[in-house]
Amino acid sequence: MNESLEGRRALVTGGGRGTGAAVVARLRAAGADVLATARTRPEHADGPFVAADVTAPGGVETVVREVRDRFGALDILVHTVGGSSAPGGGFAALTDRHWQDELDLNLLAAVRLDRALLPDVAAGGAVVHVSSIQRRLPLFEATLGYAAAKAALTTYSKGLAKELAPRGVRVNVVSPGAIRTSAADALVARLAEADGVDERAAWDRLTAALGGIPLGRPTLPEEVAELVAFLVSGRAAAITGAEHTIDGGTVPTV
Ligand SMILES: NC(=O)c1ccc[n+]([C@@H]2O[C@H](COP(=O)([O-])OP(=O)(O)OC[C@H]3O[C@@H](n4cnc5c(N)ncnc54)[C@H](OP(=O)(O)O)[C@@H]3O)[C@@H](O)[C@H]2O)c1
Repeated sequence: MNESLEGRRALVTGGGRGTGAAVVARLRAAGADVLATARTRPEHADGPFVAADVTAPGGVETVVREVRDRFGALDILVHTVGGSSAPGGGFAALTDRHWQDELDLNLLAAVRLDRALLPDVAAGGAVVHVSSIQRRLPLFEATLGYAAAKAALTTYSKGLAKELAPRGVRVNVVSPGAIRTSAADALVARLAEADGVDERAAWDRLTAALGGIPLGRPTLPEEVAELVAFLVSGRAAAITGAEHTIDGGTVPTV
């Protein structure tokens, strides 16, 4: 089976750093023509990039316009953008604004991009939405809105997969556990500040709250990218509507 993505036209959101940047590099290494997007162009970006805030009015439209101008239509859409900047303090600390921000970034950006771009994707196309194990193991200290938004993203993705399968377009979800990125470090810093502990203790508490990581380490962004590259390739031609957990064994149930 062919792992080459030669000639495939791909959009990767959240492609500026962390997991998204690793996905961009991996898809390019497989031969795909990749347009990356994030709010800020990375300093060492070496390929096509469009700057846009996918939660702001007009942001999704900017990305859609660039995709149409550059490619006409896509073959691959990897929606990596997501995260949380909500404060610690439990459910009562989360205002309507925090909830809306979590939903805009972690659910509605994907919904809006899909609605604009997927009608033009031909048979053989592949979509990956990056969710989180928090949709099954929600943490309440700072990320309850994020966890709920990711749960909605996973459910939405399943329905989308069922709708698009007869057209030959596949939709899968990748749900990572802890990935050691700058976003994870920022969350740990916020939790440390809220709890009055150092960052090592905050990290230990965070992973303990998830039940620990049996493999003993967080996942690398490149390891998530490898899974994504498999799912969008012809090697995964029979896989759609599935959620793929990559968490070092963190989720304790079948
Ligand atoms: N890190 C983890 O431990 C972990 C665990 C489970 C799931 N995940 C999920 O994995 C995905 C990637 O996480 P990550 O930790 O690799 O992310 P990250 O390092 O924070 O990178 C996020 C990317 O998205 C861009 N971005 C953020 N807000 C944006 C906005 N409003 N509009 C457009 N682009 C925006 C960022 O660039 P700009 O800031 O320049 O826009 C950056 O390129 C997310 O969906 C996350 O929820 C992560």
